[in-house]
Amino acid sequence: MNPEQMIDKLKDFGISSERQYYTRAFARNIGLLSPGEQEKLSRSRIAIPGMGGVGGIHLINLIRTGFGRFHLADFDNFEPANINRQSGASVSSFGRAKLEVMIDQAVSINPYLEIKPFSSGLTPENINEFLQGTEVVLDGLDFFQFDIRRLLFKTARKKGIPVITAGPLGYSSALLVFSPDGMDFDTYFDVRRKMPEEEKYLRFAMGLAPRPTHIPYMDLGRVDLKGGAGPSLGIACQLCSALAVTEAVRIVLGKPGLQPVPYYSQFDPFRQKYHKGYLRGGNRSIKQKVRLWYVRNTLLATASKARPFIPERPETIEKNENISVKALKYLVRAAVQAPSGDNAQPWKFRISEERAVVSLFLNPSADNSFFNVHQAASIISCGAALENMRLAAGEINLNPDITLLPDPGQKNLMAEVSLVVDEKSDRDPLAEQIWYRCTNRRPFLKHPLPRWVQDDLKDRIKDIPESGLHMLTSRKEIKAVARLVYQADRIRTEHKDLHEHFSSMIRFSQAEAESTRDGLPLKNLEAGLPGEMFLRATKPWPVMNGVNKIGLGRMVAMHSARSIIASGCVGMVTVSGLEKKDFLKGGQALERIWLTLGHHGLQMQPMTAITLFWLRCLWKGPESFSDKHAKLLRRVWTRFHGLFPEVDFQKQGLVILFRAGYGPGIRHRTLRKDVDDFLLN
Ligand SMILES: Cc1cc2nc3c(=O)[nH]c(=O)nc-3n(C[C@H](O)[C@H](O)[C@H](O)COP(=O)(O)O)c2cc1C
Repeated sequence: MNPEQMIDKLKDFGISSERQYYTRAFARNIGLLSPGEQEKLSRSRIAIPGMGGVGGIHLINLIRTGFGRFHLADFDNFEPANINRQSGASVSSFGRAKLEVMIDQAVSINPYLEIKPFSSGLTPENINEFLQGTEVVLDGLDFFQFDIRRLLFKTARKKGIPVITAGPLGYSSALLVFSPDGMDFDTYFDVRRKMPEEEKYLRFAMGLAPRPTHIPYMDLGRVDLKGGAGPSLGIACQLCSALAVTEAVRIVLGKPGLQPVPYYSQFDPFRQKYHKGYLRGGNRSIKQKVRLWYVRNTLLATASKARPFIPERPETIEKNENISVKALKYLVRAAVQAPSGDNAQPWKFRISEERAVVSLFLNPSADNSFFNVHQAASIISCGAALENMRLAAGEINLNPDITLLPDPGQKNLMAEVSLVVDEKSDRDPLAEQIWYRCTNRRPFLKHPLPRWVQDDLKDRIKDIPESGLHMLTSRKEIKAVARLVYQADRIRTEHKDLHEHFSSMIRFSQAEAESTRDGLPLKNLEAGLPGEMFLRATKPWPVMNGVNKIGLGRMVAMHSARSIIASGCVGMVTVSGLEKKDFLKGGQALERIWLTLGHHGLQMQPMTAITLFWLRCLWKGPESFSDKHAKLLRRVWTRFHGLFPEVDFQKQGLVILFRAGYGPGIRHRTLRKDVDDFLLN
């Protein structure tokens, strides 16, 4: 319907003039706005550069408030990635110009609007014309369009036009109003033209929200200042618009209460917080310089260190195409991302291009530790590696047929994965998590896992019927596990072999970690500075032994127990039997659960001393421990079995005990060796 047809249609509702339309359409605004104010809004001209996340919603809210004249600029077209937050994005608008779509929407709300479109977007060439005659600018530019934004604020100031900027940050909105006689953009944000782009974005974000409420819950690993991308929610854009349009009303009508920069405010419905303040000196203030330093050098620097390396995915394979070595190596690359005890990476692979087969071998020499009884831990890791291969295969149109233990004559051959091309359209979303999954040793929130997440975790392993997931979620049970973990973990430091193996797997420097590309980088252990000093000092067994004698070794066990308490739940993965095959299946189930936790934004850490000691007891008898430890473990078992009454500890295999919960992401990742290091001829 074009505007003329709409105006015709209005006649059916007894409306035959613009005045009549305004009176009827905005009648419900009266009481909050006076009829005269409403009339003034209809004659006010507003400039909105950008018709995306906030700009598009600003336009709609301004129109419904009764504003009648606009200058709108945008050069972009709608695409699927806009759906989550942009008012005009819909399947039918994909490929269409944002400006055109938004004007259609605008006119269908008010056919009497006066709109001047700028279809090449806001540029230095058209900026004067764009601002000409406007009373207020509502900044709808993309967060990363910094230079044109800077020019916009500068030019508007020269022309005496106020600019309102509201930025969606997490679930929140941060609002700033720049008035022509207040502080200017460059002074408030402390920016210069010749400054690294990343630094400009950082200063803009920190000036918008000097006391950021959103950082604790935002995955900073997904913020890419270099690449100009970050997470953004539709609900936050809506909030931005509500705040910005309120200020537009205030400015145009000259209502009281205007607080231009250096006043700032941030409203965060998720944190239920409203921060409002006066940032004297803007980003130049000492307080703000300290915050900027902290965010730049700690938060963002660690987030970038913890960002996973995601290898380039080979092209999806079409029917009748050969499965290339590149594709097979991609599967191995995914496999070795799997977790393994102390990051020993206990596997080898053989790839056969002619047969389109990847064979997975256990490498027993990678981990001979006391923990790894009958290589159970390493076999579990092989199962996890298989699960990753299965998921990665699906990503490139391959259907994997997995045969466990295909040749009893080859004791270390764990599985053969035969691949056929299968052009199915849906990929398992867990595949993405292969690269993000990690062990997180930081404290988590005690907030319990929602019921739907617990159900989903169990659902995802339904097609591995041999496996089971047992969850403890009450604080009482979690504390009981913490006490038992404390007892069992004491053995870690009191047992010479265990201690020496663990110490040998710690990579005390970055250079060491980079050269071996296995083991546990010291920082990955999240022991804090005193803990790191303790680990360094107690590396030689005689020192650890001496420390144990004065009772200080228990600090390690205490740390584990505290971590369990700082969790939302404790889980245990089991399998129906105690054979190799069972543990391979158990490893698959474990990996699927771990990836699902990541998929739901949860953190996880295995805590395996108890379960691996139990397997040792079962297979090698309590005499494989010292008398003191066997006695201690006997006490542990009685209580541990009581916590999981549904598990038959004699017949079922214990795969892993873990803690999980919501919490901050990791700060340091473990590394993996090169794919070629694992390949057998
Ligand atoms: C069988 C098994 C047992 C593990 N036991 C523990 C454990 O007791 N404590 C712990 O913090 N991490 C444990 N892990 C996690 C590994 O240390 C971790 O997977 C490895 O260092 C690789 O790091 P990533 O998981 O961050 O990729 C275990 C992993 C596996 C597969």
